[in-house]
Amino acid sequence: MAIVEVNHPLIQHKLTFLRNKDTDTKTFRETLNEIAGLMTYEATKELKLEETEVETPLMKTKSYILPDKAVAVVPILRAGLGMVDGILALVPTAKVGHIGVYRNEETLEPVYYYCKLPTDIAERKVILVDPMLATGGSAIYAIDYLKENGVTDITFMCLVAAPEGLAKVIKKHPDVDIYAAKIDQGLDENGYIYPGLGDCGDRIFGTK
Ligand code: PRP
Ligand code: URA
Repeated sequence: MAIVEVNHPLIQHKLTFLRNKDTDTKTFRETLNEIAGLMTYEATKELKLEETEVETPLMKTKSYILPDKAVAVVPILRAGLGMVDGILALVPTAKVGHIGVYRNEETLEPVYYYCKLPTDIAERKVILVDPMLATGGSAIYAIDYLKENGVTDITFMCLVAAPEGLAKVIKKHPDVDIYAAKIDQGLDENGYIYPGLGDCGDRIFGTK
């Protein structure tokens, strides 16, 4: 298990634009995907490779490729969708599953509404994505769901995490690696991450 705050200068620079309440929807979407791509570079560094042989213009040589069933990307709807294109830009052969969970605004409990996973998901490393890890309820629900479907290798990638939620996820799922661009200060009385960036789904889709 690893908890990694991906402290790369480019990521921290771009995160500033996402935090800014005046950033427009187009810039927000583009920047979130850019960060997702940069984080993917770090989150995939333990991927296993297969040996192959390739013929260069000069000679045959040993080289390495990802196995066909290396990766599946699973966004938690809807805000997780905002990171998928950035990940697929680096891992274009990944299959994509979807888990639909929203947070009840009063109880803050996750509410399930949709799921569609690749049939061979249990054979893949799953990168589960959601920009916001607040109370941790949605992440825990989605990880439970993946494990019930046979998945054994899960990396959770988020943009901002609250320490309270992070602790809950680690306690319930100590085997899951977690990558965050930033671990923030905490949760406010409404369960929002602070300083955070507000409601990420609304900012990606322009629904507020
Ligand atoms: C947000 C966010 C996470 C969840 C985090 O989704 O994208 O899924 O809240 O909160 P938690 O850690 O307390 O569970 P939201 O419920 O707003 O749905 P949306 O992505 O469809 O807007
Ligand atoms: N969901 C969000 O989009 N933002 C938060 O701060 C917490 C949950």
